[in-house]
Amino acid sequence: MNVRVFDDKQELAEAAARDFAERARTAIQGSSRFTVALAGGSTPEATYEALASEYAGELDWSRVHVFFGDERSVPPDDEDSNYRMANEALLSRVSPGSVHRMRGELPPEEAAEGYEKELRDFFGALDGPPEFDLVLLGIGGDGHTASLFPNTGALDVTDRWAAANPVPKLDTTRITLTLPVLNAARAVNFLVAGDDKAETLAEILQGNASPREYPSKLVEPAGELNWMVDREAARNLR
Ligand code: 6PG
Repeated sequence: MNVRVFDDKQELAEAAARDFAERARTAIQGSSRFTVALAGGSTPEATYEALASEYAGELDWSRVHVFFGDERSVPPDDEDSNYRMANEALLSRVSPGSVHRMRGELPPEEAAEGYEKELRDFFGALDGPPEFDLVLLGIGGDGHTASLFPNTGALDVTDRWAAANPVPKLDTTRITLTLPVLNAARAVNFLVAGDDKAETLAEILQGNASPREYPSKLVEPAGELNWMVDREAARNLR
């Protein structure tokens, strides 16, 4: 596990964009493609903006294939849509080779089944979960990541790569990649910023609460696990 602390959100965003670009270049050189699952929420928006403004011409985006870690049960133009945020900040400005949107406008079970098929069609019917070159994740104040919320059903899904996950406390069902996919990644970068994440980050990295209470603890990828955090979020780390 690798923890890097940055002075502020903008420095974090620029470092995360640079890391994304370096991994993409290496993957494209090695296998002619780069597969990435984007995080939702608000933290990664600055990273996506930095990618669009500083790396639009630096990468062969036609070789970049974009997936999502999770999606809310809303249409793609909804203000809560993770796709909308990523499309406005990045995807509409760089023309990736393919963009695989979780269809939040559909009933969640149908959307998850459709995404499962889309993953299998793209990665091939491997005997194990797809191995993303990079998965970007955030953490919620309750320790969730993607839409793997504390004590919810998707935490136990091991035979599917995408799941519809009822989240009672939000009175909604989300669509999320499952832990086998997150843990098959060649690299997972958690992007965490802001004072309001300090307590949760310290618990995830150094506390002994149950991982089912803090599902971010369940992300233990086969590849690299990188925590890219700003000074405010790192405030409580020993
Ligand atoms: C989502 C995200 C979620 C996010 C955290 C942090 O759909 O909300 O995928 O896992 O990373 O909730 O969100 P913020 O970056 O807005 O704090």
